[in-house]
Amino acid sequence: MIFRQLFDSKSGTYTYLLASRHGGEALIIDPVLDKVERYLQLIRELDLKLVKAIDTHLHADHITGLGALRDRTQCITVMGERSKVDVVSMRLSEGDRLTIEGLSLDVLYTPGHTDDSYSFLMSDRVFTGDTLLIRGTGRTDFQNGDARAQYDSIFNKLLKLPDETLVYPSHDYKGETVSTIGEERAFNPRLQVKSVEEYVELMNNLKLPNPRLMDVAVPANMHVGFAQEEIAQRGWAVGAAEALGLVGRPDVALIDLREKGEREKQGVIPGSLHAPYTELATNVCAGGMLHELAAATGKRMVFYCAFGERSAMAVRAAQDAGITSACHIQGGIDAWKRAQGPLAR
Ligand SMILES: [Fe+2]
Repeated sequence: MIFRQLFDSKSGTYTYLLASRHGGEALIIDPVLDKVERYLQLIRELDLKLVKAIDTHLHADHITGLGALRDRTQCITVMGERSKVDVVSMRLSEGDRLTIEGLSLDVLYTPGHTDDSYSFLMSDRVFTGDTLLIRGTGRTDFQNGDARAQYDSIFNKLLKLPDETLVYPSHDYKGETVSTIGEERAFNPRLQVKSVEEYVELMNNLKLPNPRLMDVAVPANMHVGFAQEEIAQRGWAVGAAEALGLVGRPDVALIDLREKGEREKQGVIPGSLHAPYTELATNVCAGGMLHELAAATGKRMVFYCAFGERSAMAVRAAQDAGITSACHIQGGIDAWKRAQGPLAR
């Protein structure tokens, strides 16, 4: 396994790059915008292909690298379902799995620092975001933070993990790099409380200054969606209401780009084909499944995904590969549901 802990000294942020060879699929957790060039260089040097970029929560102290990494690598952006960010490609909730080739992380909803804080558990290690830090815990005094919820996330979820589980947080300001669940239970000063009330009292009296970049970072991090204006202007987008009329038409191929787990959870548009986004490049190039389907049948190729972000990127790739009928359903299954579109399981 490839595991890199990268550091942004300006914001004290840790970013994690993970991969497990073979085809070289990689994911990155909590990337910082200022460091995107460095990540891309490392990804090239290690001969990896970035397929997913994840934020553990909406950050207030730095601008996320999610959007820039997506624009540079066409990777999938991922956040938790509770995040108020405008658009990400994929949203996860407790019990879901975050996967790339050869790696699978369990999603834990661990609110408290913010109401959109998630942790990701991968066999021997857990990425705790700002919920549990090394000998500290993330502040709970803004962004819908809640000390009571954080107590519950820490004591009833994270500290229930085996003692030897490695703890990799989003931040450290003292040069610590890693800890374990057992160590934090025993030595984290914030966790030496006798009750939830005592913890709430402690957290509500920290009197910390606001992060320096908060007024810049929060609004910027709320808007990371792919700019889709050009796709719409070129006539490559179909609204969900309009798309309702495409179901069952012999001259239309509806193509679902989501992963198996998303399809099972959310349902699929009846009669659609499954062609996962990660295999898109192979599928749309000459000789690829979708390229051949378009050429052989003359069907209009209508892509869709969860929120319309993967499908917008797919339209551009398909058009670039000469599939001139390619378009997508704006807003994805999310918009489809709101338009009362039928779903099959
Ligand atoms: Fe944070």
